[in-house]
Amino acid sequence: MMSREPFVVAIDGPGGSGKGSLAFSIARALDFHLLDSGAIYRLLALKAEKLGVDLDDEDKLLELLPDFDIRFETGAELAIPYLDGEDVAQSVRLESSGDAASQVARHGRVRKGLLAVQRAFFKPPGLVADGRDMGTVVFPRARFKFFLRASVEIRAQRRYKQLINMGLSANIAHLQADMAERDERDQNRNASPLVPAEDALVVDSSLLDLDQVTELVLGHIKENG
Ligand code: DC
Repeated sequence: MMSREPFVVAIDGPGGSGKGSLAFSIARALDFHLLDSGAIYRLLALKAEKLGVDLDDEDKLLELLPDFDIRFETGAELAIPYLDGEDVAQSVRLESSGDAASQVARHGRVRKGLLAVQRAFFKPPGLVADGRDMGTVVFPRARFKFFLRASVEIRAQRRYKQLINMGLSANIAHLQADMAERDERDQNRNASPLVPAEDALVVDSSLLDLDQVTELVLGHIKENG
């Protein structure tokens, strides 16, 4: 029997590990809210670029936070992000936005400034939170913590398919090189590096499809909830 007390399911892992699609399907299955924290870093990076703010300038990035106007609408397969009232679903998914997000995300004070924004997503009946530090920093008391892994080759292939399906152009070799570089930056930064929480269940999704990972994760939640 699942408890009715609202709870958080934290799903962390590198880009292309399948955590975004997994978080979406788990949120739908549990009828929970969804936090795509990567999208928040991407939106802040887009805002910085729009206003000509240097991604290395932490003080200027912090000045953007009081007017950081974002919202998400639930779409058929993904949440649709809005920045300053404008649908930015396409630009937010570009590799250049992911790269810019990873630069913005290096700054410890920016990460702190975004904590409240992220925690506000936790409302009844519960939240599925997807990111890099959901289980370690943003929701350290999450009832369930999963960490998804997959080889960089598989992750690049998945990202390639995603981009092509969105009508964007992509090159697998470049994607793989960019991913390896981004992993390196995300894992080695001082502020909340990408590491599994000690109490996370680590799932290697290299050889599993979305339905299989969803079944595994939902099964674990139902058995232990
Ligand atoms: O999951 P994503 O590709 O949308 O994330 C984009 C970048 O944002 C990623 O390279 C690192 C950063 N990020 C982060 O530092 N912490 C999070 N919780 C989510 C994303």
